[in-house]
Amino acid sequence: MSKKPAFGRREFLRAAAVAACVAGLSGPAFAQGGKIKVGLMLPYTGTYAQLGVAITNGFKLAVAENGGQLSGRELEYFVVDDESDPSKATDNANKLVTRDKVDVLIGTVHSGVEMGIVKVVRESGTLHINPNAGAGAATGALCAPNIFRTSFTNWQPAYPMGKVLADRGIKKVVTLTWKYGAGEEAIEGFKEGFTKAGGTVVKELFLPFPSVDFQPLLTEIASIKPDAVFVFFAGGGGVKLIKDWQAAGLRGKIPLYGSGFLTDGILDAVGNAAEGIETTLHYGDGIETPKNKTFRLNYAKTYKLQPDVYAVQGYDAGLLLAAGLKAVKGDISKKKEMIAAMEKAKIDSPRGVWTISKAHNPIQDIYLRKVVGKENRVIGIAQKALADPARGCKMN
Ligand code: BEZ
Repeated sequence: MSKKPAFGRREFLRAAAVAACVAGLSGPAFAQGGKIKVGLMLPYTGTYAQLGVAITNGFKLAVAENGGQLSGRELEYFVVDDESDPSKATDNANKLVTRDKVDVLIGTVHSGVEMGIVKVVRESGTLHINPNAGAGAATGALCAPNIFRTSFTNWQPAYPMGKVLADRGIKKVVTLTWKYGAGEEAIEGFKEGFTKAGGTVVKELFLPFPSVDFQPLLTEIASIKPDAVFVFFAGGGGVKLIKDWQAAGLRGKIPLYGSGFLTDGILDAVGNAAEGIETTLHYGDGIETPKNKTFRLNYAKTYKLQPDVYAVQGYDAGLLLAAGLKAVKGDISKKKEMIAAMEKAKIDSPRGVWTISKAHNPIQDIYLRKVVGKENRVIGIAQKALADPARGCKMN
């Protein structure tokens, strides 16, 4: 059943207007005024540390390509390491919103932490752009006018893999993931697509986040002998699983598939153990557009690193913010106009052009990719222009 959000569009706009008046912030004087305060709440330590760094790099690259400003306003950064720890999430978000009074909160990676951010920004009305965390509720039951995402829902890249596998004649699949929102939602998405196409998930295996004690679970998988295994892991967890999979002798015996986070940004760390793994994701290597080529070149030049999906999502968060600010000539207090412009934005992303759903989540192509050497090479499109079903979202 859909629930009406406690904080809908009308309430949000009223609160934003009152806040701007009280602070004396609206109008051209403000538009030409000080720096825009950008809160970055991301993991810079732990399993997802590299993801947080790539998102930050991508966001800052978009700003740098814009001359280091957005619509004539310089940016001032307020940074919090959220450690991918949901228990600290509301406190961390409050540091940025209440203490630092950021104009926009960019974050985060971990779905559980995102739920804390959503709580805080729904209450404060702070503009929020989520550059990774796939928690369905953020653009589902808890959707709100001030909440945007430039990445995916956990359902989105996993669902199309169900049909891909069923079309290959794969009938029995075991799933494996961390037991937290992102893993559970990704598995649900895969299962929905796979069962619809005639397949059966014979066993769902879990381990707590961020444990990488895979051995007993790999022994269980070997004894079940499924046609294939579908997983959700990312960052350091993906590296360890792929290495353990090879060490356990499963490579070449049972095909391993996943949402593309399994192999994105980690190929240097896994050596050849990942060769041949196929995944589905909204980005990949070998997208031969001028936009992607320029992005990859600039990113590599600036950071001496190859970009990955997380860098793209951070970059696109910069593009989305730029589109909103352009419509209000840099006056971020004009939230109504700014949100309307962000809703209409067509983001010319390295992944391909994407638009924003009514629930504020990207509508985007999901690519089928295969690891070839150090690349997650795009070998097809698993599903074109896929929108998340946004179950429970009522944006009024
Ligand atoms: C998540 O927690 O939503 C997530 C983390 C890493 C990669 C993808 C999703």
